[in-house]
Amino acid sequence: MTNQPHQARRKVLVLGIETSCDETAAAVVADDGTILANKVLSQTAEHQPYGGVVPEVAARAHLDHLDHLIEAAMIEAGIGFDRLDAVAATGGPGLIGGVIVGVMAAKSIALACRRPFVAVNHLEAHALTVRLTGDVAFPYLLLLISGGHCQLLVVEAVGRYRRLGTTIDDAPGEAFDKTAKLLGLGYPGGPRLERVARHGRPGAITLPRPMKGRPGCDFSFSGLKTAVRQALARQQQDPEPSCPDTPDGRKQAVADIALAFHAAVADVLVDRCSNAITAFRNRHPDGDTLAVAGGVAANSYLRDALDAVARDNDMVLTAAPPALCTDNAAMVAWAGVERLRLGLVDPLDFRPRPRWPLDPDAPKVGYAGIKA
Ligand code: KG4
Ligand code: ZN
Repeated sequence: MTNQPHQARRKVLVLGIETSCDETAAAVVADDGTILANKVLSQTAEHQPYGGVVPEVAARAHLDHLDHLIEAAMIEAGIGFDRLDAVAATGGPGLIGGVIVGVMAAKSIALACRRPFVAVNHLEAHALTVRLTGDVAFPYLLLLISGGHCQLLVVEAVGRYRRLGTTIDDAPGEAFDKTAKLLGLGYPGGPRLERVARHGRPGAITLPRPMKGRPGCDFSFSGLKTAVRQALARQQQDPEPSCPDTPDGRKQAVADIALAFHAAVADVLVDRCSNAITAFRNRHPDGDTLAVAGGVAANSYLRDALDAVARDNDMVLTAAPPALCTDNAAMVAWAGVERLRLGLVDPLDFRPRPRWPLDPDAPKVGYAGIKA
């Protein structure tokens, strides 16, 4: 046997760019899952005065910041553009102005460096993140809960998704943001509502559980927001103790409603996931992984509830760390790695897609749960 000098394997490196909503992000990720750089610039301050994301403001901010962020990511990764193996960007779905900014930047770098360009579906990037942060094999059941999406999907392979359910109205992140706004907690709502809920008294207020107990895996969140408004109006009529730990010494009722909201959302997610686990097991009897992804997956209260339903069904819950649940470019770079491995690269005339379903064959869902 000859004694060959050990040669380190040359890692495949992908630059990822994310601009589909209100985070401008650039990251460099290796095919062994090492994150060499992960830069995220949140536009919270720009959108705060409007209480939500304004598409034109977002597109302008992406344009202003993306170049610097890419430069900063490359410096942090300690590599030049010629060391990249591919350039990936979110190609949709999302706010089209922002998506165009990211896609144009990625195509320019790809063209200049003669590297492949990979157009990544933002939802696929969320869906594959658990494979970046953990050793998760296909197939797995995925609950994708974010500001714009709510889906239960069977993830069978890269590019192969089967949707079991979706929302018939709002996404959970939207419900979090609107509830936080109603309670005067400001934007972004999710993390603020979670903080305030810690001071809530369990059972002090009860909110409805839309869709709970119904067959199937679809969701509805718009009624919950109305129930919050009514609960708040009822509480405001009563003189009540204030809760010193809530912002500005807010009333205890705000914390109680925040906790009741968490309890209702958790209950609904658990109920829908139970049905989805049954459907998943019918297709994949040995499947044992429930993954949760998307910005709302950063919520520890919801994670605990999902962990419990996974255990009850002999499954394991897996979730990325909170910073990789909310929008970031490491997940886009990783989806780029996964696609590049399979030769799934895109031409430079790829057109950004404001809508881009993961499972185009899934039945359309209309109001009142009627499948259109
Ligand atoms: O995945 P994401 O960053 O963007 C979309 O693709 O939509 O998700 C953003 C959403 C927002 O609605 C935000 O309020 C929510 O995720 N979110 C949370 C938490 N952190 C972010 N919701 C509940 N609890 C959190 N800790
Ligand atoms: Zn997202």
